[in-house]
Parts: sequence; C-alpha cells; structure tokens
Amino acid sequence: MRLTGKKAIVTGAARGIGYEVARRFAEEGAAVVMADINPEGNHSAQQLQRAGLAVTFCRTDVASNDSVVQLVDTAMELHGGIDILVNNAAVNIPGSILELSEEIWDRTYQVNVKSMFLLSRAVIPIMQRSGSGAIVNMGSANSYVAEPRLSAYVSSKGAILMLSKAMALDFAAEGIRVNCICPGWVDTAFNDSHAALFGGREEILKNIHDIHPIGRTIQPVEIANTALFLVSDEASAITGAGILVDGGYTIK
Ligand SMILES: NC(=O)c1ccc[n+]([C@@H]2O[C@H](COP(=O)([O-])OP(=O)(O)OC[C@H]3O[C@@H](n4cnc5c(N)ncnc54)[C@H](O)[C@@H]3O)[C@@H](O)[C@H]2O)c1
Repeated sequence: MRLTGKKAIVTGAARGIGYEVARRFAEEGAAVVMADINPEGNHSAQQLQRAGLAVTFCRTDVASNDSVVQLVDTAMELHGGIDILVNNAAVNIPGSILELSEEIWDRTYQVNVKSMFLLSRAVIPIMQRSGSGAIVNMGSANSYVAEPRLSAYVSSKGAILMLSKAMALDFAAEGIRVNCICPGWVDTAFNDSHAALFGGREEILKNIHDIHPIGRTIQPVEIANTALFLVSDEASAITGAGILVDGGYTIK
C-alpha cells in the first residue's frame, strides 16, 4: 500500500485514464475525490465504492474558478487535507488553425491549461501548510511532437509541459513535486474525433507499428501506474520531469 493515509484529487476521473488513476490510487490506500464535468462520474465512483475503495465523486468544471474552489472545499471537508493532485481533464478538438473557431481555441486552453493554473493555485497553499505534496499534470507525446490537424490540442499540451517545469521550480524547496506524464496513444474514446479525420481508429491502427514501435496502443492502467509511481515516495527526487509513456512514439 503505497498511498496509505494520502488524500488525492483526480480530475477527468469519470472515465478513461483519470478513472484508472483514481482506482489505482484508492487501491493503494488513498482517499480520492474524483472530479469531472460529466455526471456519469457518479456511477464510476459508485462502481469503485462497491469494490470497497474510498472514492467520492464531485461534479466539477475545471475551467471554472468557482467550480474549482468548490471542489477544493469539498475535498477539505471530506478529508481535511490534499496531498496529491492529478490535473488530467482535457478536451481534444481536432483541426488546423484554419479549421478551428475562436471559441474552440479558447475552450481548449481553458480546459487543458488554465484549469491547471486554477486548481494548482487553490491546492498548493494547502500543500505548503503540510510541507509536502505531489502534483501530476497530464501532458501528451504531443508536448514534444505535433500531429496534423490538431493545432489547439498539441500547443496546449506543449504549454502543460513547461507549466509543470515552472511549477516544479517555484515550489521544490517547499517539498512539493510537480511532474508531467506524456502518454502516446492510449486506447480511450478521447482520440475518436481526430482519428475520424484520417479514416477512423481501425484504419490508423493497421499501421500501429509505425506509430508505436511496441506495436500496440497503451492501456489506461499503464498511465495510472506511472502516476502512482510519481506521487509515491519512490519518486521523491523526481520533479519537473516530462515522463514519456508513449510506446516509443517519439523515438524517431
Ligand atoms: N487517450 C490518449 O491517447 C491520450 C494521449 C495523450 C494524453 N492524453 C491525456 O490524458 C488525459 C485523459 O485522457 P483520456 O484518454 O482518459 O480521455 P477521456 O475523454 O476518456 O477522459 C477525459 C475526461 O475529462 C473530462 N472533462 C472534459 N472537460 C472537463 C471539464 N471542463 N471539467 C472536468 N472534467 C472534464 C471528461 O468528461 C472525461 O471524463 C487528457 O489530459 C489527455 O490529453 C490522452
């Protein structure tokens, strides 16, 4: 049990990677608040509760400061502290800059990047008071390399990597570590609208060896296990790192 007694917030936890992160953290002894804009997150949390895990759902729009403050208040009322924050929620709306509206551009940056500013600035003072904390921001292989017709998303993910480094630098001396996980293609519904522009998921997967040298997509639990390592004491000297979990996607 690597997270016994720890109190965590995981955003975008209704499904996909965030759900697996919440599950793995709770299995390792953490009390987890699962935040998501999708009310289905309540069912996701109930599923984990039935398995005996200490999770609570809190409906949250991470792009709204009022909603984020309410999330932090709820976590504090429930658990009396916050040791771990995983900023995972994001949107992925495809298009070149000529295909995207200003609204889509703004929404992408609000959900993917500004949310990390809002939630981290609400949580870090709590971590400062306790003298320690671990934050994981979910980047992407697109924090390092671009893809066609994905301009708002890839640029937001580039920003997240550098924001993680800036936060790590500012709070390292206070025992707060900040790292950025950069996944390759993880098998969730997240990529469907982008894949549709290139013939659909099945068509693209025919060439998966060209994309991921390991010859397969990545499972959400593989990202969750990386997050678990990064927030655990085993990673006590790791901060400001971009950790690629990309099946070799960015090797060449
Ligand atoms: N799936 C991939 O291939 C992949 C690759 C690299 C990085 N990532 C990153 O991993 C993270 C999770 O992706 P996923 O594949 O699990 O996607 P997903 O679509 O399965 O889950 C994303 C979750 O975020 C929630 N969300 C969206 N907007 C929100 C908001 N405003 N407030 C609160 N919650 C909101 C959604 O409701 C959803 O439950 C994202 O940051 C994504 O950029 C995914």
